[in-house]
Amino acid sequence: MSIIKLHDKYFKSYISDEQIQEAIKSLVKQVYEDCKDETPIFLGILNGCFMFVADFVRKYNGDCEVSFVKLASYQGTNSTGKIKQLVGVNEDLEGRTVVILEDIIDTGNTLQEIYNIFKDKKLKQLKIATLFFKPDVFKKALHIDYVGISIPDKFIVGYGLDYDGLGRNFADIYQLTSKPTMTNIVLFGPPGAGKGTQATFLKEKYGLVHISTGDVFRYNIKNETELGILARTFMDGGDLVPDDVTIKMLKTEIEKNPDANGFIFDGFPRTESQAKALDQYLLDKGEAISGMVALEVPEDLLVQRILNRGKTSERPDDQDEAKIRNRFNEYKTKTAVLKEYYQNQNKYFGVNGVGDINEITKRLSNVFDKL
Ligand code: IMP
Ligand code: MG
Repeated sequence: MSIIKLHDKYFKSYISDEQIQEAIKSLVKQVYEDCKDETPIFLGILNGCFMFVADFVRKYNGDCEVSFVKLASYQGTNSTGKIKQLVGVNEDLEGRTVVILEDIIDTGNTLQEIYNIFKDKKLKQLKIATLFFKPDVFKKALHIDYVGISIPDKFIVGYGLDYDGLGRNFADIYQLTSKPTMTNIVLFGPPGAGKGTQATFLKEKYGLVHISTGDVFRYNIKNETELGILARTFMDGGDLVPDDVTIKMLKTEIEKNPDANGFIFDGFPRTESQAKALDQYLLDKGEAISGMVALEVPEDLLVQRILNRGKTSERPDDQDEAKIRNRFNEYKTKTAVLKEYYQNQNKYFGVNGVGDINEITKRLSNVFDKL
């Protein structure tokens, strides 16, 4: 659940893949009831329908044929100008049952064209199935046989549908929303990458509030807040603090800063379920994670850095190479899922963390400026 940006517009999670599949199942059942005694031709209207048709026919267990067409405009010779034609009809459709599979019916203009085109094709019957339907906009007296999900008059993307070319690849449906007002960054980096140093600098530069999970934990435990005491009971028992306790602590921190321009999250989220909870929490406020910015530093270099630090610091875990490597392995296995999680939302930004501190700040700023 999240807000994504396509070109200049923002879209929020709206209909999940699971809900879509449920709707398709129900459509398939209805169509099958009506067509099981014959071999229908399922005709997808490209481009938007490609995912819908693929999922629909996979769930359809009777004999059927599948084909795709495109509606293209051409300049007519008559005075009305644009006329639509179907491109790519290879089958002889005479006497056949054709089921049009549409991704979305909005004004019904496209549907009107379809009815016109098939009027004189001598079909046995023409049926219309649409996955999405906007009843508030549809003003035509045209019949629609099967409707998957009716939605309000708001622009959607995903599952084959696009906004100016983008968004077709998402498995879920997203709905147009207003621009989030905050910049919320998840700052990531392996141990020793210099996250703390950079966060201090960046929060000043961008007027953001830096929330370090470690600090939040220490604060709650030291001050014996309700959540601190609760966290303690798990830690004393040698258990990890459950996600919901951590999330509650983080929310309390966020709520302490109602006027913030945004937040830098440091050490959070650590798990996919934390990331999802954070997304949902922000979504309820009309906000979102703007990006995960990760400092990328080769492991060998970091091990060397930490070992050097270990020569002067008293930390025994900074002196043992095997232990350091183990910390990295943990980091890699735990964060790999998060990297993928944000990558799937097109929100992962890797930044080269090798070099001079100021140089790295500059690189990070280049990313922050875009978010
Ligand atoms: P019509 O208004 O019913 O003719 O729909 C025309 C076409 O507009 C559809 O086939 C879609 O390609 C596109 N369309 C309508 N509403 C949406 C939407 O909410 N998201 C993406 N495309 C849409
Ligand atoms: Mg369409």
